[in-house]
Amino acid sequence: MSTKRVPFPGETIRALIQEHPTPFYVYDERAIRENAKSFCKAFSWVPGGFKNYFAVKALPNPRILKLLKEEGMGADCSSLPELLLAQQAGLKGEEIILTSNDTPAEEYIKAREMGAVINLDDISHIPFLERHAGIPDLICFRYNPGPLKGGNAIIGEPEEAKYGFTREHLIQGYREMKEKGVKRFGLHTMVASNELDPLYFVDTAQILFDLIVEINRVLGTRFEFVNLGGGFGIPYRQDQEDLDVRFISEGIHKAYRETIERNGLHPIRIVTESGRMITGPYGYLVTRVRHVKRTYKTFVGMDASMADLMRPAIYGAYHHITVLGKEEEPLACTCDVTGSLCENNDKFAIDRKLPEVETGDILVIHDTGAHGHAMGFNYNGKLRSAEFLMRQNGSFEMIRRAETVDDLFATLSV
Ligand SMILES: Cc1ncc(COP(=O)(O)O)c(C=O)c1O
Repeated sequence: MSTKRVPFPGETIRALIQEHPTPFYVYDERAIRENAKSFCKAFSWVPGGFKNYFAVKALPNPRILKLLKEEGMGADCSSLPELLLAQQAGLKGEEIILTSNDTPAEEYIKAREMGAVINLDDISHIPFLERHAGIPDLICFRYNPGPLKGGNAIIGEPEEAKYGFTREHLIQGYREMKEKGVKRFGLHTMVASNELDPLYFVDTAQILFDLIVEINRVLGTRFEFVNLGGGFGIPYRQDQEDLDVRFISEGIHKAYRETIERNGLHPIRIVTESGRMITGPYGYLVTRVRHVKRTYKTFVGMDASMADLMRPAIYGAYHHITVLGKEEEPLACTCDVTGSLCENNDKFAIDRKLPEVETGDILVIHDTGAHGHAMGFNYNGKLRSAEFLMRQNGSFEMIRRAETVDDLFATLSV
């Protein structure tokens, strides 16, 4: 059970709005740092040192990547621009992993140039990588366990997922890589998204550990690391519990002792690519009420739209909403909280109980620190919003300015 509170005083945000119009995002530096520390600490038993490669796609801002680097995190990149963002944040070499799919040659070339870890998505990418970028010393493959592992609501059934190698392809792939002289190996999987069942992660680790034992038996391959991917869930709803990362870590440690150590394959590093769990709860979309419309329902029309935050519209995702300054008022209004896109699913909430809302009120949409701004788009000529970092001393640093009409038109040939 979590109580959602806004970490900044209302008057500070009102002062900020005087200079920078809504909508905009605010990220809480102190909370992100504290959370990053405790996430890493939970895995302190990991031999050779645990690392979370923060999934850049969750919050692709170099200021955030830099801050997370200071907390010992690396970057998980899925495209060339994400590799460049990681580089801009000062991350180097094996602090970066390229976990991509349907990958173009330029991405492999750039990753090789940077000395990043390359995580291949398919066996057909081995000759492709060799032809375009050459074979590195260290290689990782992404495993898709298929029917071995049940799916989850967002990511679906593994057999239906486009990602990863089959078990047979993995064995063939590691064999080929050994023949090509590769000496260092990693194994990756990611079969969940926003998963709140801790046992899911322990089971996934067990599947990977068993596979490592099997591959070692068949090929004699020793593994340097296991990458459990991302997908660690957060409680978007107040009645949901935080995922117990220490419980997950203890479960994985037990599986490690019983499978990896017992089979003489120790040491293997454990790494992850968590994005949502690291920054998700510490981001806030601040938006103002433009109009309150009363027809067949009450529609509270905001100056943000699904172009700023698309999770509610595409996944039906719940995001808690605070009406700033009215936290203690009764929830007397049942309304749909809408954006201005010409799409009827442009709604942040449907039939939500809020205090009585009026034009000019400031609404804060919670848990938008991951896969929030990042998933924004320009449909209907909507401009991408600014991002602010609330520093540990309470000041606000603009870490991305709002887009202008000139930015939007910059690519047009007129
Ligand atoms: C390969 C990969 N790694 C990591 C992540 C991060 O997931 P999350 O932010 O849910 O932890 C994603 C998300 O789509 C992903 O595709």
